[in-house]
Formats: sequence, C-alpha cells, structure tokens
Amino acid sequence: MKVLVVGPGGREHAIVRALLSDPGVREVHAAPGNAGIAALVPTHQVDASDPLAVTALVRTLDPDLVVIGPEAPLVAGVSDAVREAGYPVFGPSQAAATLEGSKAFAKQVMAEAGVPTAMARVASNTEEAAEALDVFGAPYVVKDDGLAAGKGVVVTNDRAEALAHAQSCFDAGGEVVIEEFLDGPEVSLFVLCDGHTVVPLAPAQDFKRIFDLDEGPNTGGMGAYSPLDWVPEGLVEDVVARVAQPTVDEMARRGTPFVGVLYCGLALTSRGLRVIEFNVRFGDPETQAVLARLRSPFGALLLAAAKGKLADADPLRWAPESAVAVVLAAHDYPATPRTGDRIRGIKKANAVPGVHVLHAGTALDEAGKLVSAGGRVLAVVGLGEDLVDARERAYDGLAKIELDGGQYRNDIAAKAARSQVTLPEQRVPRHAAGAVGDQA
Ligand code: AMP
Ligand code: GLY
Repeated sequence: MKVLVVGPGGREHAIVRALLSDPGVREVHAAPGNAGIAALVPTHQVDASDPLAVTALVRTLDPDLVVIGPEAPLVAGVSDAVREAGYPVFGPSQAAATLEGSKAFAKQVMAEAGVPTAMARVASNTEEAAEALDVFGAPYVVKDDGLAAGKGVVVTNDRAEALAHAQSCFDAGGEVVIEEFLDGPEVSLFVLCDGHTVVPLAPAQDFKRIFDLDEGPNTGGMGAYSPLDWVPEGLVEDVVARVAQPTVDEMARRGTPFVGVLYCGLALTSRGLRVIEFNVRFGDPETQAVLARLRSPFGALLLAAAKGKLADADPLRWAPESAVAVVLAAHDYPATPRTGDRIRGIKKANAVPGVHVLHAGTALDEAGKLVSAGGRVLAVVGLGEDLVDARERAYDGLAKIELDGGQYRNDIAAKAARSQVTLPEQRVPRHAAGAVGDQA
C-alpha cells in the first residue's frame, strides 16, 4: 500500500513512523512534513490547507490512502476534495470536522446524542457573557468558539479576566462558549471511526500548561503518556457506549458521517464522565505516546476506517510497555516562539535504548543544519517496562538534546508514575435547567 500523510508536525511524524512499521505499507509520502519526516520518506512542499493543491499532489502520487493529520485542512475541506477525486481518505469531511471547528456545534450534537458534557451557554456579546459567567460561577471557563490551536480557552477565578477573554473573541468577530468548571483528571481517548463502527485506541493523558505543576498558560500540549493504570475499570467501554458511538450515530443520522479519528477529551469528574471537547484528528503529543505502543498494522487499520470496513478489523494489539513523550518547545512558546535556533544531539538521543525522537517544528537551514521552525520543536518518546522506566528513558534522551532557550516540563507522567493521580469523590448528579448539554 502507498500512503500520503498530510501535515507538518510531531503527530504526522508519529503517524509516518507507525505506517513504516506496517509490513503492508510499501511506500509513504508526506506533505509538507518536517525535517524529521524528510529523513524517512519523500516530502512534497504544498499548502496542506489548500484543497486544490493537495488534490493535485494526490493525483500525481496516486496513493491507496490519504491520511490528513491536522484540524486546519479538515476544517478547510481538504478531505472532501480528495475523496471527490476518488481516493480513500482517513479524515472527516468539512461538515463532520465542525465537531472541532465550532464548540457550539459540538455542544448541539452532544445534546442531541445524549452525551455527558459540561453545561454551557453560547454568548455573542458582553451582556450575554456576563450573565453566563454568573450562572456558572467561579472557576470561570471561557472558550473561543472557533479553532485556536488549543490556546483559545481561559480557565480562571478572575471574573474580569474571563470577561476580557470573551471580549477579545467578540472583537475578533467570534462567539464564545461559557461553561461550568469540570473537576477531576483529564483523559484523551482516540476512537477510529468509519462512519458507523468505532474502534478505541489506548487512553492517554496530556499536559496542557507550559510549566511544571500545571502552571502558566495553555499550550497545544507539553507531554503525554499511555496507558493510564489509574482510570476506572471499563472506562474505555463506557466512553465508547456513552460518547463515541452516540456521536458517530448522530453524525450519520444528520447525513454527515464521521470518518477518521474522534478525539474524546474527557474529564473524570465528581459527577462522572464528561466530555471537555471533541477534536477530529489525532492529538498532539498524545499520538506520539499512543502509537509507540501499537503493534497492529496501522496502515491496514486506517484504510479499513477510510473504506467503511472497521467492523472486519482484528482486535488491536499493544506492547505491554508504557510510553512517555516529553515535548521540547521553543524560547517564549506559547506567546511568540523564536525560530531558527540550532538543534543538536538528536542522534545521541535516538541512541538511548527505548528512545526515539519525533520532530514537530524543525527545518534545515541554508547550510543544511537542523533548526527550530515552530513553537513545539520535537518530542522525545521513551518506551519502558513501566512509567518510571519510560520517564527515565525519555528524560535521558532529552538531556542529550541542545536547543538555545528550549523549554520542557520536568513532571510529565510524574504523578502517575508515583501512583498519585486521584479521582474526585463521586457526588450525586445535579441538574440546572435551560443550559445546553446538561445530560448529567
Ligand atoms: P479545550 O480546548 O476545550 O480542550 O480546552 C483546553 C483545556 O482547558 C482543557 O484541556 C482543560 O484543561 C481546560 N478546560 C476546558 N474546559 C474546561 C472545563 N469545563 N472545566 C475545566 N477545565 C476545562
Ligand atoms: N494535545 C491536545 C490536542 O491535540 O488538541
């Protein structure tokens, strides 16, 4: 099988790597890729979010499968254009990608499908925002309705800050979703979908804030690990039954079937399971940790999803080890990341047993030297017999890498490795009338 992977980041590097380890995959191409991907497979410089440009490339390469990594091309309709050209695509249509493109739309679908999520209100002006903040109280959660690369959400006890974030979204011509605060640890579960059948991968946990101990602003994700030994038994089955399958059924009922990966961002709260958000693609950097453990042929799985044949797929096989991915970010990420800094030591990091480096924002400069080219520069993945071992390997690998001004968190998977992740005590569900998504 010949596969084209569309996208430039660490997630796409992980996808390319997993495809290359599938004996059924003969050839992989990437567009545009990054310096790490270019070292593995041919890359093609194309605007990943331009449906015509991507379709033209697809016609030239004539692949058996096109995998679209990031949300921007999906929301721009790239999968529709490639599908119309007659090629199997792993990645939802523009209509189905609205599950990530609009948080208000996702809330409507969840309400319709009976999926448990935070109670929420949509606000499009200051008065509505102020009223919604007072309905839910502190801590305040204010979300930009549209795509914001994981940075459009403000969670704060400061009402003025919450209102200011809403105002900045209105000033930019947008709306906000204001919702109740969800307590409890977060879980990311990726569910492969073929429009009807769903197949869950192993759950992961992401670290969203820039600094240790979850301090500082939100980022796209500073690290991840998988599997999670602290989640309640049956969690994956529960998410499939109460979240993924009803959502996929509702999207099919609406005539916009969901094909691709439904990323269920979940909180395990004192009132039970709640969806924090849906994304319509693999998470970054969770994918770097999750795919490090997958032992089933990845290409065959994605092709089965693209062709509506997931019901025939064999049960997934996983390595017994744990995986930890630690992100190395650029100076001043997430505010105004500096690019063009020299990166050294990747070979040494890759030589550490159980370690591999996945590039994200990297490029070669004019002299052919590896330099940073984005906010999140790379991730070091450690695979070890348990989380303690995997963490040690990942951080050993990271210590070999040099990047001027580089930042990383020291506490990725630390609590879980010490068995210190706690679930909040369960409370009796509470109801509030008139709010979207009150499915408690
Ligand atoms: P989102 O873009 O919706 O995933 O939000 C980014 C991050 O903000 C999440 O991963 C959570 O850490 C936090 N967050 C979002 N919604 C809530 C909520 N209702 N309660 C608490 N934290 C939230
Ligand atoms: N790691 C969070 C995301 O991919 O949205």
